[in-house]
Amino acid sequence: MALVSTTSIVLFFLLFINTSHIIIAELPRFEHKRNGEDGSLSFLVVGDWGRRGEYNQSRVAHQMGIIGEELDIDFVISTGDNFYDNGLTGEKDPAFFESFSNIYTANSLQKQWYSVLGNHDYRGDVEAQLSPYLRQIDNRWLCLRSFIVNTEMVEIFFVDTSPFVREYFDIPNEHSYDWRGVLPVKRYINKLLSDLKTSLKKSTATWKIVVGHHAIRSVGHHGDTQELVHHLLPILQANDVDLYINGHDHCLEHISDDKSDIQFLTSGAGSKAWRGDVEEVNKDGVKFFYDGQGFMSVQFLETEVGIVFYDVSGQVVHRWSTSKQPLAAS
Ligand SMILES: *[C@@H]1O[C@H](CO)[C@@H](O)[C@H](O)[C@H]1NC(C)=O
Repeated sequence: MALVSTTSIVLFFLLFINTSHIIIAELPRFEHKRNGEDGSLSFLVVGDWGRRGEYNQSRVAHQMGIIGEELDIDFVISTGDNFYDNGLTGEKDPAFFESFSNIYTANSLQKQWYSVLGNHDYRGDVEAQLSPYLRQIDNRWLCLRSFIVNTEMVEIFFVDTSPFVREYFDIPNEHSYDWRGVLPVKRYINKLLSDLKTSLKKSTATWKIVVGHHAIRSVGHHGDTQELVHHLLPILQANDVDLYINGHDHCLEHISDDKSDIQFLTSGAGSKAWRGDVEEVNKDGVKFFYDGQGFMSVQFLETEVGIVFYDVSGQVVHRWSTSKQPLAAS
């Protein structure tokens, strides 16, 4: 309790200072040392998963364990909607064990998990998932709103995308969202975009990845997220981002940008999938779409990246790779 209130006081204080333009707080940054002596980096990406093992969540988790072992992964990324239907009710919500700790039990998955929040997570006690208390009871867990993970060769920028989506504010229907820490939303978004832009410009990593819950481009149920197409995409295009990775649509998909080298990758198939729910508009650049359950792996060598999508049985359903020279060779 004491911890929580101290945190909120500090947050409140930081917000207060920001309004007077004294301190420009940057995105929290984590240095991640890679496993491999060969300089490679690999990780798995899963999204939209927490259903107490149901809807094949446990089967996907089992296959993640096997592929994680094969690739000797460095960490796991969660693209959000971590706990259904309405996030966590608080730090002590048993769903944390039932949908996370007791499900992803394979040896190879006992690594750091880097997670963002999805729109469903905002429907619960949003601060519970961000709480250091969860990190104490399962030290794999790390969920922040927006942050950076740096591995030198690869830099990953995690972006909190739910506040961009107007619909959640304008027509929330029967849902209530916990917008603590986000209001006023216009200022929150502007600050986030400006911090992201600054950090991307400063980055010297060979590969830059941006992760968010909502898709920029998708042919699944929700389709493109127009707010992100307008506000986020131009920043990614201007700063040589290689991959944009998201969940939200419960499918696996790969779409190439027509104006840059950005690859849009959806990995939102960690449990319940929406079979047959395909959007009929904007099919530009679609390389792959799979409306069943599964997950993705990403593997970097100094000059090469390879992505692989797997279904619920661990079968490879799509592969793609590309290469480039490091930015600063000298
Ligand atoms: C689990 O996966 C199997 C194999 O793809 C599929 O037949 C079954 O419908 C899935 N179950 C659920 C609840 O999605």
